Amino acid sequence: MSSRLQQPIIAIANQKGGVGKTTIAVNLAAGMVRRGRRVLLIDLDIQGSASAILGRSEGEPDGNVAKCLLEGRPLSEAIIPTAYDGLDLAPAGERMAIVDLHLASALGREHVLARAFRSVAIADYDLVLLDTAPYLGLLTLNAIVASTHLLVPVSCEYLPMLGLKLLRDTLGSVQQQIGIDVPILGYVLTMIDRRERITDEVEAMLRKTFGNQVFEHGIRINTHHKASPSHRQTIYDYEPAGGRGRADFERLCDEVEVRLGLSRKAPAANPA
Ligand SMILES: Nc1ncnc2c1ncn2[C@@H]1O[C@H](COP(=O)(O)OP(=O)(O)O)[C@@H](O)[C@H]1O
Ligand SMILES: [Mg+2]
Repeated sequence: MSSRLQQPIIAIANQKGGVGKTTIAVNLAAGMVRRGRRVLLIDLDIQGSASAILGRSEGEPDGNVAKCLLEGRPLSEAIIPTAYDGLDLAPAGERMAIVDLHLASALGREHVLARAFRSVAIADYDLVLLDTAPYLGLLTLNAIVASTHLLVPVSCEYLPMLGLKLLRDTLGSVQQQIGIDVPILGYVLTMIDRRERITDEVEAMLRKTFGNQVFEHGIRINTHHKASPSHRQTIYDYEPAGGRGRADFERLCDEVEVRLGLSRKAPAANPA
């Protein structure tokens, strides 16, 4: 079991694409930062969507996660500040797409990210979030091995149990073969649309299977979530105060804090 004394490092994982991983990574980070927490977001997605939303517009910085993993550089070289006070970003980098191939022949290939991580001044952060790629390759395995918890977004658009079994089997292998037990912080329902029967079906099945591992509140379907990334904004910038998207993320932040046992910080300067 990962040390409880360490800052939480949460991998946001589900090998299914389009389930809301990046949306949760970016807005959970933004919500936590608004609560006065210092957050590091590490982008491990080949598409680099979180980096595109949060990165500065001057283009790619010199350092990025792909470069660190490919060249054996310390991850600290990839960390840049964002426009949000308290939120740092390690952007993915264009070469992320070839990292998996590279890792296949690396020594201790499941631990490359964890090793690169040692250079990060982890005590500077209250929380580290890893946004992961939509497949269960070596990169995602590295994310799991480097994490203390897993947060699993589950979209209400389809019946997702098969994919979740694969993810749990992978966690089981990590535990058995590598000896690292990464607990599931929780399953978060996303794309919740109460007008659709599939929403209730997916929710019922998840709650029956995973009980209180399923977060009480999820993220409702919301056009603001669809549109905000193209404006390179978090939901807190894009949606007016009082909006549903912001309210959902405030509740998610609350529940993550409780589940992690984080003590309450000062309320946000400008609550949703
Ligand atoms: N709750 C939501 N309501 C509406 N659209 C959403 C919601 N969450 C995510 N989206 C949109 O769905 C797409 C996939 O979401 P994303 O977070 O990128 O998923 P993933 O990272 O798992 O591939 C994106 O266009 C995103 O803007
Ligand atoms: Mg993504």
